[in-house]
Amino acid sequence: MNATAELEIDIHAPAYVRNPALLAWVAEMAALTKPERVYWCDGSDQEYSRLCQQLVDAGTFRKLNPVKRPNSFLACSDPGDVARVEDRTYICSANKENAGPTNNWIAPAQMRGILQHGQPDGTVALFDGCMRGRTMYVVPFSMGPLGSHISHIGIELSDSPYVAVNMKIMTRTGKAVYDVLGVDGTFVPCMHSVGAPLLAGQADVKWPCNKTKYIVHYPETREIWSFGSGYGGNALLGKKCFALRIASNMGRAAAEGSGGSPGWLAEHMLVLGVTNPQGKKYHVAAAFPSACGKTNFSMLVPPSGFEGWKVTTIGDDIAWIKPGADGRLYAINPEAGYFGVAPGTNQSTNPNCMASLDHNVIFTNVALTDDGDVWWEGLEKDSKSIPAHLIDWQGKDWTPEIARATGVDGKPRPAAHPNARFTVAATNNPALDSAWDDPAGVPIDAFIFGGRRSTTVPLITEARNWVEGVYMAATMGSETTAAAAGQQGIVRRDPFAMLPFMGYNMSDYFQHWLTLGEKLAASGARLPKIYTANWFRKGADGKFVWPGYGENMRVLKWMIERIEGTGNGHDHAFGISPNYRDLNWTGLDFTSEQFHTVTSIDTVAWQAELKLHSDLFQQLAYHLPKELQETKTRIETRLAA
Ligand code: OXD
Ligand code: MN
Repeated sequence: MNATAELEIDIHAPAYVRNPALLAWVAEMAALTKPERVYWCDGSDQEYSRLCQQLVDAGTFRKLNPVKRPNSFLACSDPGDVARVEDRTYICSANKENAGPTNNWIAPAQMRGILQHGQPDGTVALFDGCMRGRTMYVVPFSMGPLGSHISHIGIELSDSPYVAVNMKIMTRTGKAVYDVLGVDGTFVPCMHSVGAPLLAGQADVKWPCNKTKYIVHYPETREIWSFGSGYGGNALLGKKCFALRIASNMGRAAAEGSGGSPGWLAEHMLVLGVTNPQGKKYHVAAAFPSACGKTNFSMLVPPSGFEGWKVTTIGDDIAWIKPGADGRLYAINPEAGYFGVAPGTNQSTNPNCMASLDHNVIFTNVALTDDGDVWWEGLEKDSKSIPAHLIDWQGKDWTPEIARATGVDGKPRPAAHPNARFTVAATNNPALDSAWDDPAGVPIDAFIFGGRRSTTVPLITEARNWVEGVYMAATMGSETTAAAAGQQGIVRRDPFAMLPFMGYNMSDYFQHWLTLGEKLAASGARLPKIYTANWFRKGADGKFVWPGYGENMRVLKWMIERIEGTGNGHDHAFGISPNYRDLNWTGLDFTSEQFHTVTSIDTVAWQAELKLHSDLFQQLAYHLPKELQETKTRIETRLAA
């Protein structure tokens, strides 16, 4: 940071902010970015309403029909700012090796030149004056229950009121954060600008942003700097930037300290509770890549045939997982809200989510109906009809005819952007687990790793041991989705569903998982079982075979039976999978032939798959744990037998 920066504006800190390091940092950032004013968010409901009204007045928000969708708003973004920008995301560790081959890296000094200090050729730093004409919002937040020993505090400085109101929903925010921070508490500084300074008299646009984007993390100093985007994980810095990329560094660093601590895990995982008819409760943490159904799975409604079973949500996207005194792994949800994908959400895929979206929601990039409500692809399944007219996410007229005429590849032009989102408080969720805010977290019984694969990967497989589970997670592949900018439907390796979110070297992360498992096992603890799932296999007609959503309960029940030692299955090259007779089919017409289509193991396809594992291991050769290489050899040998 530039300690000599000249102070140009008064930061007007409220008396309850007593942390000198925070005050100095805000002053320094104000001097760098030169906002017109600094506003300290108090996190109150009144403030939220005021800022939402301000966004309505500015044209960024449209207030939705208060009868149909009370206290809810629609924002439509710039068409060039609709998703996370993975190719503009950097881990600027001191050494390139620590960022590893899966991350973009620029030396910290060079990046600080680009963002903060200016470059040797005289190019002005991107943050220099980037908030001119705007307000800098100071947003204090706690990732995790306020004051919990598992939680951490962040402060986001942003020139986007849209970010400020979204952070109010997504995190525990407000004055109480300053009480926890106190005089000498530490925080992760999260610096955000849309990168669109306003000249005197210049009119603002509805969604300010900049074509140049940088999402930057300095793991050693635990800082986040984000420039140019106002969208989702690029801008709500508590989420991917802090709770995954910076927190993954914190979790591993905790293992490097004295006392042989195993450290902790920051994972791209939902956490759910599942209670059986006898009232026994289990907790499952499941990692799936973005837009692969984590929110739906976390709010699952058991289907007919599962009377007496209950699923409750602890979190839908991120889990912080720490060993407890009993050696078991306990998970908290560091977030307080859901920033979920709207398209595809409806009464049959996720009724609990639909109920959550009844009121107090911010929608981004969905379509607007003629009666002032929202619409997205998938809702036609509920209403059994497609609206005759909408305003699409880009503000254009949309009718089924226009959509057909302007579509691409024979598909109608969608009314909502495929990565359109809702932001809603966890407390809106009727299936919210009573322990979702418990500072102690919930004990994890099983991990699931799942990719989106049309072929090859069977419905469900149990790892025979921790190392085999880590191997499955490390080699996971998935077809890309609209959650990130770039081509969709391409199979890429997405280890642990963490490829875009890993804050340090991926091989060191594999080692962290292995060592943590070893240490916990050595202490006599019972480790969670590890599963790999694939809900997405397609038949010869190109359609999904497995019905998914609530029907995933059938797989969940089998996993619980395995945990209890009562479930059966057969042993194969990668682990243990159920036979047709091992799942409960009451209430679902699913034949053994269909089951075969989603569970069969094609040796030739798997030989090709293992070549892709080899390519991954070659890419990750630096520090790749030998146990993973050995596991691959064992699988290859068994497959060839
Ligand atoms: C998300 C993502 O927003 O993974 O959760 O992209
Ligand atoms: Mn996610």
